[in-house]
Amino acid sequence: MVDNFFFVGLPYITLLMFIGGSLYRAFTGLKTAFRGRLAWSARGDLLWTTRSTGFFGRATIGPAALSLHWGLVIVIVAHVVGFIGGAGGWPALVNFYRWVGMFGGLLILYGASWALVRRLTAPQLRAMSTREDYLVLLFLIIIPGLGLYHSAVQIAFGVSYAVGPWFSGLFTLRPDAGLVAGAPLVVKLHMIVNFVFLAYLPFTKLAHMFSYPFAYITRPYISMRSYVGLKR
Ligand code: HEM
Repeated sequence: MVDNFFFVGLPYITLLMFIGGSLYRAFTGLKTAFRGRLAWSARGDLLWTTRSTGFFGRATIGPAALSLHWGLVIVIVAHVVGFIGGAGGWPALVNFYRWVGMFGGLLILYGASWALVRRLTAPQLRAMSTREDYLVLLFLIIIPGLGLYHSAVQIAFGVSYAVGPWFSGLFTLRPDAGLVAGAPLVVKLHMIVNFVFLAYLPFTKLAHMFSYPFAYITRPYISMRSYVGLKR
C-alpha cells in the first residue's frame, strides 16, 4: 500500500506536475499578471531566471557552478544508461553507472554545497536570497548525498537491476511497486525526495533549464570581461 503510493502514484503525479507545471508556467506566466490566461507570448514570467549572483565572489562560484551543472548532466546520463543496463541485465552498463554516477554525484555535491556556503556567508547574497534559493540547494545536496551514501559509504550498488525494470514499467503503463519493495531504505528515500523535487522544479528558478538550449543557439554574442581584469 505504502510502496504503491510512493512508487506508482507519486511518480505519475510527479510526471504530470513536471510536464504540466512547466507548460502552464511557460505559457501563462504563473507568477505575473498573465496568471490563469493562456498567452502564447508570455514565455514564462519575470522570475524565469536564475537571479545570477556571479558578481559577488565570481572567483569561487565559477568552478562550483561548472561542477554543479556538469555533474547534473553526467548523473542524468549515468542513471539512464544504468537503468537500461538494469532492465536488460547488462552489467557493463550498470558498472558504467556506478563509477560515472559517483564522479558526477561528487561534482554536484561540491558545487551545491559551495553555492550554499557562499549564500550563507556573503552578506550581499544573504540579503538577496529567497527561501526558494536555499530549498533548491538543499534538494541538490540531499539527493546526491543519499545516492552516494548508498554507493560509496554502504558500498551496496546494484539496485538498478530492480529499479531498471520498475522504471520501464512506468513508461509501458505496467507499473509494479513490488519490484522496488525490497530496495534499501536509503535508495527509497533517494527516489522519493527526487520525485518531490521534480514536481516542485517547474515552479522554481530551475525552470531556466528549459530555455537554455534554445536561446543559447540563437542568442547574440555576450561580451564577457576577463576575470583577471576584474580583480584589479
Ligand atoms: C527519478 C529520478 C531518480 C531515480 C529513480 C534514481 C534512482 C537511483 C538509484 C536506484 C540509485 C542506486 C543504483 C544502484 O544501486 O544500482 C541511484 C544512485 C545515485 N543517484 Fe539517483 N535517481 C534519480 C535521480 C537522481 C538525481 C536527480 C541525482 C542528482 C541530483 C541523483 C544522484 C545519484 C547519485 C550521486 C547516485 C550514486 C551513483 C553512484 O555512486 O554511482 N539521482 N539513484
